[in-house]
Amino acid sequence: MDDFRLSLLPVHTEPAVLTRLSDLVNEVYAEAEKGLWQDGATRTSTAEVAEMTGAGQMAVAWLGRHIVGCVRVRPLDDGTAEFGMLAADPAHRGRGIGRDLVAFAERHALDSGRPVMRLEILTPRSWTHPSKEFLAGWYARLGYQRTGVNAVEESYPGLAPLLATPCDLVAYRKHL
Ligand SMILES: CC(C)(COP(=O)(O)OP(=O)(O)OC[C@H]1O[C@@H](n2cnc3c(N)ncnc32)[C@H](O)[C@@H]1OP(=O)(O)O)[C@@H](O)C(=O)NCCC(=O)NCCS
Repeated sequence: MDDFRLSLLPVHTEPAVLTRLSDLVNEVYAEAEKGLWQDGATRTSTAEVAEMTGAGQMAVAWLGRHIVGCVRVRPLDDGTAEFGMLAADPAHRGRGIGRDLVAFAERHALDSGRPVMRLEILTPRSWTHPSKEFLAGWYARLGYQRTGVNAVEESYPGLAPLLATPCDLVAYRKHL
């Protein structure tokens, strides 16, 4: 089987690729965050993905000519970067795409002079979600430490009305 390769998406990427990418993220998150959002809420849009790509923040995994994963990495301050929108195509899980995307984001942060990586996991407040439990364990294995918890209604008041259940954003940090 062909191996996948990772790259930062060029700032000027054709619209069809951006649409494919936003469809992938929405499909993956519809499943991974099932029960957290009200019907009709989507994780992203082609316009938002275009903006992140235009800012040089979107890395993708290619399998031949197909995008099979992505991660967004952005600077937060002089010493800190954050990754998010991490997704791997369900048809290609468990072959290292997710792990390599995280490593790519970490390298990108270090290359830009930021030795600290941060991330947040959206987590239901009063019940456990299997895919969030998996992430908490996996990020801990990758060296991330839990640093705090913020209610979504405080951090992103605009998003809170779209939630189907009260959620927190659990923050993690790693010194790279
Ligand atoms: C998180 C995600 C990107 C991982 O993608 P992936 O390509 O399957 O990841 P990898 O193949 O690199 O495996 C990652 C880890 O999961 C483990 N894993 C993979 N498939 C597994 C399975 N079926 N059962 C148990 N563990 C599994 C691997 O062993 C690996 O752990 P390790 O690094 O300690 O060895 C993917 O599950 C996903 O898209 N999830 C939904 C979106 C999401 O939750 N994003 C993160 C939001 S913060």
